[in-house]
Amino acid sequence: MKSIVIISSITVLLLSFKQPKKPQSKIDSSPQASINRGVAVYRKECMSCHQADGGGVPHLNPPLSENTDVLGDKKKIISIVLKGMEDRIPLDGEYYSNSMASHAHLSNLEIADVLTYIRASFGNKASAVTPAEVALVRGGKKK
Ligand code: HEC
Repeated sequence: MKSIVIISSITVLLLSFKQPKKPQSKIDSSPQASINRGVAVYRKECMSCHQADGGGVPHLNPPLSENTDVLGDKKKIISIVLKGMEDRIPLDGEYYSNSMASHAHLSNLEIADVLTYIRASFGNKASAVTPAEVALVRGGKKK
């Protein structure tokens, strides 16, 4: 009986020396976690124009599915989200008459998440975008 008490008190002692848990607020930087957060940003900020399936609206808002720019250079699409777009140049051979406003109010993390999401959704398969890459395009400014 005595030995059980000793063993259990040693166990309790050892457990109390365990490393403290990492703070819960640490952001999960895995692509899957980014995609999961990006869905919410997309629904709130982008879906009204680019639609739930990323198909856009003919002649009004471009589709994000099967889109050369979405799958291409990350800097270009980061810049479009930060600055908006009303170039009215042909995108994959089609013109769109609506204008996209700047979304610079979003944080670097939110922009990275939403772009990671669209590059991995609607049939797209491209690499993740990181907050550091967004920060570079924003001009080093933290947000
Ligand atoms: C008010 C409608 C609207 C909203 C909201 C909007 N967009 Fe757009 N987006 C457009 C339009 C219109 C264009 C094309 C403008 C042009 O042709 O000049 C565009 C262009 C783009 C492009 C470039 C497409 C290409 O082929 O080069 C990307 C990428 C994009 N939007 C992503 C997003 C993301 C991500 C969000 C949310 C953070 C968003 N958009 C919110 C209307 C919108």
